Amino acid sequence: MTTPDLPHVEGAQLALISGSAVEELQVLLERCEDFEVLVTGHPPEPYAARELLVDAPPDHPLRDKFVIGVWTDQGLTAAIDLLRDFPERHVWYLGLLLVAPEDRGQGLGERILAAFRPWILSQEGRAIRLIVQDQNPAARRFWVREGFVEIGTATQELMDRTNQVARFELKL
Ligand SMILES: CC(C)(COP(=O)(O)OP(=O)(O)OC[C@H]1O[C@@H](n2cnc3c(N)ncnc32)[C@H](O)[C@@H]1OP(=O)(O)O)[C@@H](O)C(=O)NCCC(=O)NCCS
Repeated sequence: MTTPDLPHVEGAQLALISGSAVEELQVLLERCEDFEVLVTGHPPEPYAARELLVDAPPDHPLRDKFVIGVWTDQGLTAAIDLLRDFPERHVWYLGLLLVAPEDRGQGLGERILAAFRPWILSQEGRAIRLIVQDQNPAARRFWVREGFVEIGTATQELMDRTNQVARFELKL
């Protein structure tokens, strides 16, 4: 499937992360250390950005993976990680939505999501799924407010930690 141009977010420029932007993504991940510590118990590794770009389920083609940066006049301010047609056709998996700490709570996350809904729909996506760790109630509030519905629970096995998570879905 061909990929349409990235959507427009008011006051921001979007681009797929590659080249020198990988270093900017690394800086963003490190600024968002709070989130990484919350989920994994550790600050981000020095190669976390490079790893994120290729982090896809086995056998899932990287052409269906999108790590997109959101640049404002403050530089790279947010990022979103999406997998097309995972875990099944017409379902998109949102692996990460991250807004720089000082820019949270000002509607940027909501505007990013609003921009991607029609973009995903235009590629025959019918639903977005994601997980939220139980220890991240603020993110849970965000997704519920955006219309996501809890569809189950799961355990997330990380290297040296297990998280209880809720599984959420938004039908488009
Ligand atoms: C969750 C997140 C992407 C939302 O983006 P945002 O631009 O802050 O969201 P908006 O301004 O559109 O909405 C604010 C809501 O986001 C949620 N939120 C989550 N973490 C937040 C934070 N650290 N600061 C402010 N709001 C936060 C809250 O529900 C908040 O609503 P509330 O003020 O009523 O509690 C962003 O806060 C973030 O990057 N958080 C850390 C990473 C994370 O948890 N990502 C989700 C992974 S599942």
